[in-house]
Amino acid sequence: MRDVPYQRPAELDAILADAARADFAMSCEDRTGSLLATLAASKPNGRFLELGTGVGAGAAWLTAGMTADARLVTVEADEAVQAIARRHLGSDPRIEFVHADADDWLTQETGVFDFAYVDCRPGKYLRLPDLLALLRPGALYVVDDMLPQATWPEDHQPRVNGFLERLPDVPNWRATPMNWASGLVVAARI
Ligand SMILES: C[S@@+](CC[C@H](N)C(=O)[O-])C[C@H]1O[C@@H](n2cnc3c(N)ncnc32)[C@H](O)[C@@H]1O
Repeated sequence: MRDVPYQRPAELDAILADAARADFAMSCEDRTGSLLATLAASKPNGRFLELGTGVGAGAAWLTAGMTADARLVTVEADEAVQAIARRHLGSDPRIEFVHADADDWLTQETGVFDFAYVDCRPGKYLRLPDLLALLRPGALYVVDDMLPQATWPEDHQPRVNGFLERLPDVPNWRATPMNWASGLVVAARI
């Protein structure tokens, strides 16, 4: 069995080429993206959230799975990085790009979401309860990069270990750690 995605978003190669030119090495890998697209397809008309847009690879995968009436809010602190995503995906009316620190954004946001792909520290290692408060019952939560990554700072492993250890004790939450791709957790809000 080859766990290679059957389909890739049309914009992905151009996004990844721009990422390489910008020396941005944190885009999600294809297997993770394919899973994001599949899970996104399970939420027709869903409200999606991504924390950490990067250059838009994750958003390209999510929108590839989303229905025409679904919506994605994607939050990024680095305007220059997010500009690459806007350039490639900005014509998709389903996407709202937010330039903000996700930490601040989480203190103010009151929306309700069916899906969260959390790809920066807030909503994962920080402010997890604030993120969970935005998810309706049945909502899915996905994080990647649970396995060591070349881009990690030296002090990062204990943060990941602590997150994985706390997961079983999070109330109203059903999580599965996956030793696959870059290391994922897929969870559902109960
Ligand atoms: C792993 S990359 C995102 C990759 C993208 N989600 C994908 O799947 O291709 C993490 C991104 O989070 C951004 N980031 C880091 N801290 C943040 C914060 N506090 N608020 C918003 N964005 C943040 C970084 O600038 C970086 O672009």
